[in-house]
Amino acid sequence: MTDASRDTLRIGIIGCGAGVFHLRGYESEPRAKVVALAGLDTERCQRLAKQYEIPAIYGDYRELLEVADIDAVSIAVPNHLHMPVAIAALEAGKHVLIEKPLARSAEEGEQMIAAAQKS
Ligand SMILES: NC(=O)c1ccc[n+]([C@@H]2O[C@H](COP(=O)([O-])OP(=O)(O)OC[C@H]3O[C@@H](n4cnc5c(N)ncnc54)[C@H](O)[C@@H]3O)[C@@H](O)[C@H]2O)c1
Repeated sequence: MTDASRDTLRIGIIGCGAGVFHLRGYESEPRAKVVALAGLDTERCQRLAKQYEIPAIYGDYRELLEVADIDAVSIAVPNHLHMPVAIAALEAGKHVLIEKPLARSAEEGEQMIAAAQKS
């Protein structure tokens, strides 16, 4: 959960493809700090981590979600994973920013919104 005693939001980015666009956005925001990446394509993630000096890389996204001092995640994984990853992130207490499209169907989107309202 966000620590009110600090003014920086600590971010994890899940997905090292379009995730780079989120990364560049956060780079220009002094109140956000990207502290971790997650991706199954290790080499691509390692290149990004080196370029942007991101200290931690995880394989499966669940490992990143277990990190207590990550406040928020950007989700940039393939579309069929948007719903399960977003719901897992919300259940882990993270704020969630997600790539378009939100989900594959209105039903999936509604489940995600319900999880957000509950978290
Ligand atoms: N590429 C673009 O220009 C672009 C533009 C607009 C929207 N998007 C959206 O961005 C999202 C991702 O697209 P992309 O082009 O980057 O796809 P991509 O296949 O290039 O990258 C997907 C990333 O997700 C990671 N991933 C998959 N399963 C994972 C798991 N279980 N744990 C951790 N990481 C996992 C992969 O390792 C990879 O890093 C999609 O929703 C797409 O619609 C992409």
